[in-house]
Amino acid sequence: MDTHFDRYLPLERAQSLPSQWYTSQKAFEAELAQVFSKEWMWVGRSEEISKPGTWITAQVGKESVVVTRDFEGNLHAFSNVCRHRAAKVCRAHRGEGSRLRCQYHGWTYDLEGHLKTTPEFEGVENFKKEDNSLPRFHVKTLGPWLFVSLNKDARSFEDQWAPFLRESTPFQIEKMQFVKRVEYSLHCNWKVFIDNYLDGGYHINTLHPALAGVIPYSEYRSELFSCSSLQTAPLKSKEGDGVSQVRKGTAQYWWLFPNLMINLYDGVMDVNMVIPEAVDRCRVIFDFYFQDVSQENSRFIDESLKVAHQVQLEDQDICEEVQKGLQSAYYRSGPFSVSREKTAYHFHQLLAETVNL
Ligand code: FES
Ligand SMILES: [Fe+2]
Repeated sequence: MDTHFDRYLPLERAQSLPSQWYTSQKAFEAELAQVFSKEWMWVGRSEEISKPGTWITAQVGKESVVVTRDFEGNLHAFSNVCRHRAAKVCRAHRGEGSRLRCQYHGWTYDLEGHLKTTPEFEGVENFKKEDNSLPRFHVKTLGPWLFVSLNKDARSFEDQWAPFLRESTPFQIEKMQFVKRVEYSLHCNWKVFIDNYLDGGYHINTLHPALAGVIPYSEYRSELFSCSSLQTAPLKSKEGDGVSQVRKGTAQYWWLFPNLMINLYDGVMDVNMVIPEAVDRCRVIFDFYFQDVSQENSRFIDESLKVAHQVQLEDQDICEEVQKGLQSAYYRSGPFSVSREKTAYHFHQLLAETVNL
């Protein structure tokens, strides 16, 4: 397999990750095991389980995970795979109650993942409920979000988030209120979507006609941090233009290794997470937040969601084309624009540093 990638080359001489990183099952499995099972992964909003006795489920790499809030208000995260015959204990996205009940044969677990009841299990030898708790994971909150790590030696969460917390203060994200989640399924490797996000605005004028002129190409800037990056653009207002009515201020586009993106505008935040589903398939979650959620602002919100959807359709279309191109025998990798694509190279470097193929 031709996966050689030199992450020490200067940007001027660097090449992107070889196409087999995007098309081979081996690379996909390695990423799940060495990145998605190792890093802190965004799993949702803490307000979803603000009430004691509530839970949500999420996908972390190959693992289905439950995050609960117990009746003392503490958070817990554990495996969502039943210790009996491996059915999902919780099949819904969210729920509530003091017990989690597996739908298959009715075993129940408490909110800390301890096995509590096992119908018709008398006489089974060498079986103790206390040895059959659901394996526990690490859980943390940051701002309005929940994160889970399957690995106790995950990269420092605080270090990773410090630049975001420092630079995003003018947006007052604590005042942003969640309004809507939209999900898209894409026929491409998860990295194709991230690459598209991290090209420093290179594709704006060609792919997104409605954004050209609103996001001033020449004033687009990128900054790299240890495991995140920031792209900024002072947005321009265009008379009578729908996009510039709903995208204002100096936009910040954050990427946090490996798969989380946070877009900040005046009064608007949208959080995107890419979930790898197969080597050539991923799901993208968009959570939209607004500072003003009053009825008077509903037109602004609707228009803003419409703009995001249109941009996503354009990005999705090109990402799916790129995935087809990556399967060509005549393409291996390509160079980076020095003025635009340092953020994409930074992503490839971090990934190659983390994944041993
Ligand atoms: S698989 Fe859960 S009770 Fe049987
Ligand atoms: Fe785009």
